[in-house]
Amino acid sequence: MYTTLHTYLTDNILTITINRPDKLNALNKTVMAELDEVVSEVYVNKEIKGAILTGAGPKAFVAGADITEFQGLSAEEGQALAERGQEIFDRIESAAKPIIAAVNGFALGGGCELAMACHFRLCTPNARFGQPEVNLGLIPGYGGTQRLTRIVGKAKAIELMLTGRMVDAQEALQLRLVNYIIEPDELLTKAREILSIIGEKAPLAVARIIECANIAETDGLGDGFAFEQEAFGECFGTADMKEGTAAFLEKRKPHFSGK
Ligand code: COA
Repeated sequence: MYTTLHTYLTDNILTITINRPDKLNALNKTVMAELDEVVSEVYVNKEIKGAILTGAGPKAFVAGADITEFQGLSAEEGQALAERGQEIFDRIESAAKPIIAAVNGFALGGGCELAMACHFRLCTPNARFGQPEVNLGLIPGYGGTQRLTRIVGKAKAIELMLTGRMVDAQEALQLRLVNYIIEPDELLTKAREILSIIGEKAPLAVARIIECANIAETDGLGDGFAFEQEAFGECFGTADMKEGTAAFLEKRKPHFSGK
């Protein structure tokens, strides 16, 4: 049914595995379209009481948006990309059923943003979180500037986004980016255990708790997400973004000119 996702439903829990391990599960257009579809499935399928999002292979949850698809995009196309990404991730956050990220390795850029859109996160000891877009002459565009700031606080979020530094599992736990660190062979079992506890609760109460927690976070903050879309798009109009993405794909250091 999906080409880049593997899904299976057992005991009312849908496990969704992003399956492009040779590209560290980078989010290309197909993955995004299929994530959109699978989120709709979580919304409408009454058999599903909760979902787990994870990545295929031992190395990565998701290493970011697919950088090969960034090349040649205009500012408007960049903004549209952010709008679409934000929309899908917002539907994850707004789901009436819990969606947990089981982070089994790198969660970078769009991968960190995807994990942060989930209701909470578990990770393995080898997990690495980060927003390295600045290295590409870019900014996070799938909600990361907003969600990272809300989760870890402004000072830490700004430090991490400006340096592009990755944090390991222990630091992620300290920063409250993850709820638990779990050994790889226990990761999905732990996620299922938590979801099966939630699965016994009243669905309406579960839905309302998620909704209220989302409102608590957004209340009074203004539309930072719309601002992020615009700023992300602007980066696509710069020479530095073209240089940054080309340098990544050519496996060399970028030389930024400020243009
Ligand atoms: N987009 C497209 N391709 C990606 C990717 C991404 N975000 N992240 C990794 N890949 C690809 C690599 O290009 C490589 O492909 P190749 O085998 O065809 O050359 C493959 O996945 C394996 O990655 P590689 O870089 O060789 O693994 P590594 O162990 O040396 O490094 C990372 C791992 C995560 C540190 C490195 O891949 C990386 O920095 N990725 C980009 C992270 C990023 O900037 N994300 C934000 C994007 S907005």
